[in-house]
Amino acid sequence: MTKSKTKPSLWKIMQLFMAVVVRSIPTRFSTIFNFIGCLAMCYLLVTAIGYASSNNGDHIIETNDISQVDFRQEQMSNSKPESPESPPKTILFWTPYYNRTDFTFGFGRDPFVKFGCKVSNCITTNDRTLLNESDAVIFHALQVSSRDLPAHRQPQQRFIFFLYETIPNTSIPCVGKCLPSSQYKPHYFNWTMTHRRDSDVYVAEPYGAVAPKYWTLPTQLPDELSPDTLPANPAVLLNRNYPHLANRTKMVAWFASHCPTHSQREDYVKELSNHIQVDIYGKCGTMECLPRNSHRCESLLDNYKFYLAAENSLCPDYVSEKFYRALTNDIVPIVYGGADYTEYAPPHSFINIANFKSPKHLADYLTLLANNDHLYMEYFQWKKHYAVVRSPKKGWCDLCAKLNEPSQQKKTKTYQDVAEWWVRKLPCYPGSSFLMSHT
Ligand SMILES: *[C@@H]1O[C@H](CO)[C@@H](O)[C@H](O)[C@H]1NC(C)=O
Ligand SMILES: *[C@@H]1O[C@H](CO)[C@@H](O)[C@H](O)[C@H]1NC(C)=O
Ligand SMILES: *[C@@H]1O[C@H](CO)[C@@H](O)[C@H](O)[C@H]1NC(C)=O
Ligand SMILES: *[C@@H]1O[C@H](CO)[C@@H](O)[C@H](O)[C@H]1NC(C)=O
Ligand SMILES: *[C@@H]1O[C@H](CO)[C@@H](O)[C@H](O)[C@H]1NC(C)=O
Repeated sequence: MTKSKTKPSLWKIMQLFMAVVVRSIPTRFSTIFNFIGCLAMCYLLVTAIGYASSNNGDHIIETNDISQVDFRQEQMSNSKPESPESPPKTILFWTPYYNRTDFTFGFGRDPFVKFGCKVSNCITTNDRTLLNESDAVIFHALQVSSRDLPAHRQPQQRFIFFLYETIPNTSIPCVGKCLPSSQYKPHYFNWTMTHRRDSDVYVAEPYGAVAPKYWTLPTQLPDELSPDTLPANPAVLLNRNYPHLANRTKMVAWFASHCPTHSQREDYVKELSNHIQVDIYGKCGTMECLPRNSHRCESLLDNYKFYLAAENSLCPDYVSEKFYRALTNDIVPIVYGGADYTEYAPPHSFINIANFKSPKHLADYLTLLANNDHLYMEYFQWKKHYAVVRSPKKGWCDLCAKLNEPSQQKKTKTYQDVAEWWVRKLPCYPGSSFLMSHT
């Protein structure tokens, strides 16, 4: 007992030390931070192992103090990979994700291996008899029913709030409509797994991502030429034309089937269409292409210069698949949304409505580009160095890594009210406010 008495106090000091380090050093100084973090983690680990072997069950409660300390991604990747003999973490899908019981990811351990996760020591299942052994239980927020919740929960289990949709209405009476009331059970969820980058696990799977084609950029630009290759011919360069643009005779395409929306994108588009041709496909307009998202409809895009990727709500970090659809096709996206797009795609890969004083100003710029192939083609330069990933699995890899992360084992966290985080703390911006200052 004397042994375990000294250890908790050391443990406590380390917690405080870590908390101070984490709070006082901006995470950008990640090298210093990583170094200190590594030292501290090694110490923590050694202490924790020593302490665990002294077999005193109280330590789980002891660690509550650091429950809010959020270790960054870099720490996770710096940590030792799981030892092969440690049992895999079980991830139980309690609900389906729409009609997909496997959350579009897959079951078992295979997907983690198949998608190249650095840490793949996890299995997914929807077998509810494995509830007690599950390390994480995932609930798709839109499909949780208060009549169908797990009967038990184990203290080390993480109940995960999983959501890819936006719920723009900031006045909370949308309990039971926007979010089922079960989610308002205080302290129900331990982690969040959403497209918001401040989630415990950040996932962008249904939407997409842009990734560099090479992990390191060439040190010297441009590349050396291979033997017997001539540099570009100035005569051709200076008189370059783009015959493949000849078929792009139409201006803006917009595919939308939900209106009116919280972002009031339809009002913006209406005003825009007074100044430039906008073809509206779907329920919000007069044109239609069925089946939606089919190859035939995507090829329609070859006739247009611009694609309107306007979100239905202006919410934090909300960039939906529309954006990636445009980036994948050779068409310039015009974005309207609540995210900082510069974080999501390289410069000069899109046009942001927010950068224009009014729809008229935007229309003038689009007309300028449309009449100058050289300027227009600048919007495709990024494709040399980046590629679009339509269904990135990184979020699932991060979940698995986090479940296996030794520093997470003793940490507890709960959301007192997940709706507070999801809607109230950082509300979506009403389209009406945007339009007031941009029309
Ligand atoms: C889920 O629904 C979509 C469209 O509603 C359909 O195309 C798909 O086949 C369904 N998937 C399963 C697994 O039922
Ligand atoms: C699961 O654990 C609970 C206690 O938390 C226990 O009552 C229950 O019987 C267990 N279920 C199974 C299937 O082992
Ligand atoms: C939210 O919804 C309520 C009722 O449904 C409505 O009265 C309110 O204006 C909405 N708030 C916003 C910001 O749209
Ligand atoms: C332009 O469209 C015509 C008719 O649809 C097609 O035959 C031709 O291949 C297209 N040209 C290019 C460069 O895509
Ligand atoms: C998860 O949340 C429950 C309920 O608030 C809590 O009792 C438990 O300690 C939490 N577990 C972890 C590992 O954070």
